[in-house]
Amino acid sequence: MSQIRRVQDDEQDTILHQQLSYAFWPTPLPAKQDDLVIPTREMLQEATTYVLFENEQPQATASYSPMSQNIRGRIYPTTAAVWGVASHPEARRKGYARQVITELFRVMYEEGIPITTLYAFRESFYVRLGYVTFPLRHIATFSPQALLPLLKQKLEGQVRLSTISEGFTIYQDYMRKRQLTTHGMGVFSNVGRVELLKKNEFWLATAYLNEEPCGLMRYKLDPITGVMNVMVFYYDNQSTKYLLLEWLARHVDQAKTIEMRLHPGELPETWYPDLNVQLSSKDAPLARVVNVLGLDGIPIGPGAFSAQIRDLYCPWNEGNFRFENAEGVLKVTRSERADFELSIQGLSALLFGTHDPASFALREWGSPDSNAQETLRQMFPPLLPYLHETF
Ligand SMILES: CC(C)(COP(=O)(O)OP(=O)(O)OC[C@H]1O[C@@H](n2cnc3c(N)ncnc32)[C@H](O)[C@@H]1OP(=O)(O)O)[C@@H](O)C(=O)NCCC(=O)NCCS
Repeated sequence: MSQIRRVQDDEQDTILHQQLSYAFWPTPLPAKQDDLVIPTREMLQEATTYVLFENEQPQATASYSPMSQNIRGRIYPTTAAVWGVASHPEARRKGYARQVITELFRVMYEEGIPITTLYAFRESFYVRLGYVTFPLRHIATFSPQALLPLLKQKLEGQVRLSTISEGFTIYQDYMRKRQLTTHGMGVFSNVGRVELLKKNEFWLATAYLNEEPCGLMRYKLDPITGVMNVMVFYYDNQSTKYLLLEWLARHVDQAKTIEMRLHPGELPETWYPDLNVQLSSKDAPLARVVNVLGLDGIPIGPGAFSAQIRDLYCPWNEGNFRFENAEGVLKVTRSERADFELSIQGLSALLFGTHDPASFALREWGSPDSNAQETLRQMFPPLLPYLHETF
């Protein structure tokens, strides 16, 4: 007999400890390291965790944490960042992980959460569940050597160094400012995630112009491997970008290699001659619409259409809907008729701006004809979403 239910407090702690350590860490762990594998207690309290039990034994689990997110310029205070999807090896390939995630969709819907995101172990598993893939973030690898001439330039402004714990308010305020202009950007503000960030500790280099924080970099430095790992590199303007690059140049005798995580729209190879940037990428984020009627108010281009939405895992999204531009923003209503079919993947791809509608028929995401495709392009111009948070 199987049953899916929410777990909290000690039960949540114990089950996640067992399931996540086996799924995500090199195991078995020496006893003393046991408490390293679970998220902080504060983080668990703010998360929603569901577990599938079979004969009262936990078999599969999945959780989500609330996160604010920018969707085409509208800031949603709460979307769902899904993490900790795991099943016991004895229970795999029986559809249990899928059942728990489907249950999470229902809970999100009831909680009024319209959007969910996650990082995939395998994209196809989540695409079948309705998610679409974001462009991968870039990881730029280069030596700071080529940036040395910047040290001789008189750059306006200055960089101040602190730890993330000391500078946390500056960091979080800057992330919120950045989120206002970055499509797709999610920011955790809950206590548990903040504690986790502080617990891991990072350097925070903030670039100031006229005493205003106008850019920042979050990084770790390992003089043994000679790698400076830059997880966040954001700037308001070119002055602060070069101020931050000059900061990197100061590490030339300490760090052989800079590894920098970047928005896919960044072109680091053009920043300075002889940087010899190697680009790679990692960890595809995916996103999904959980509630079609929760998309009102998102800024879009001109146009209107009706579609029959197909959503195997969220039955409340099934049926005909009209999507129209009402005074510059999206308005969604139930409708009598539909111009074409659209799967939830197709709608999610339009919303995030990740796929051209001409590809939908090939992906089995819908059947808009060429006129409808033109309307969809006008209403949902292509964009490069960037999730920012990792989880
Ligand atoms: C990834 C993981 C969660 C999958 O769990 P699971 O319970 O096996 O997942 P499901 O059974 O729902 O689905 C897995 C596959 O089995 C298939 N499957 C489901 N029922 C099946 C059955 N009765 N017979 C055969 N295959 C079946 C599913 O179709 C799916 O394949 P697909 O993606 O090609 O469609 C599990 O392997 C795990 O814990 N891995 C380690 C941690 C990890 O990577 N987590 C994911 C983080 S995003």
